[in-house]
Amino acid sequence: MRVSAGDDGNVSIRPAERADLLAVVHIENASFSQPWPYDAFEGFLDESGFLIAEHDGDVVGYVVADVSRNFGRQLGHVKDVAVHPERRGLGIGSALLTRALAVLVAQGADTVKLEVRQSNDGAKRLYRNFGFEPLRRVPGYYEDGEDAIVMIRKLE
Ligand SMILES: CC(C)(COP(=O)(O)OP(=O)(O)OC[C@H]1O[C@@H](n2cnc3c(N)ncnc32)[C@H](O)[C@@H]1OP(=O)(O)O)[C@@H](O)C(=O)NCCC(=O)NCCS
Repeated sequence: MRVSAGDDGNVSIRPAERADLLAVVHIENASFSQPWPYDAFEGFLDESGFLIAEHDGDVVGYVVADVSRNFGRQLGHVKDVAVHPERRGLGIGSALLTRALAVLVAQGADTVKLEVRQSNDGAKRLYRNFGFEPLRRVPGYYEDGEDAIVMIRKLE
């Protein structure tokens, strides 16, 4: 899949590889106050929902999504998504999410959920654009005490 990077070329979305992990961690650290460590990403290398957005050979974003069995159903989970701070607002996050949802559908998920910080209005807008609806609040979900909003969406 290729999307416009807004300036000098295209962004392609592809499965993550070990060689991407340092760049992924760099973006993660620039994006979150409680970033995932290297090992956490390493553990998802075999997961087809771990995808990279690449532009001119540089990693500019990623998404981590998987499927687990939940009360007899296949539940998709978008666990992490971030775009390099200088590359936001160009459609890369949307492209990553589109592709991740397609992977989850291919893996048999009929519903997908995610958690988002209550204060993260940009991400909440992105998810609403994708048809996610708030399901419930989880008080103190994050280590700094902030609440999470669980959002879900049915998949066809
Ligand atoms: C959330 C994130 C992944 C979106 O990536 P992106 O490439 O900037 O997203 P897109 O360019 O595809 O934007 C899609 C929509 O998201 C919404 N959005 C994203 N960031 C926004 C912001 N800072 N403010 C307002 N709206 C925002 C907008 O509705 C936008 O659609 P529009 O441009 O048509 O208005 C990116 O901002 C990011 O990495 N944020 C830090 C990490 C993070 O919060 N991840 C989500 C954790 S739950």
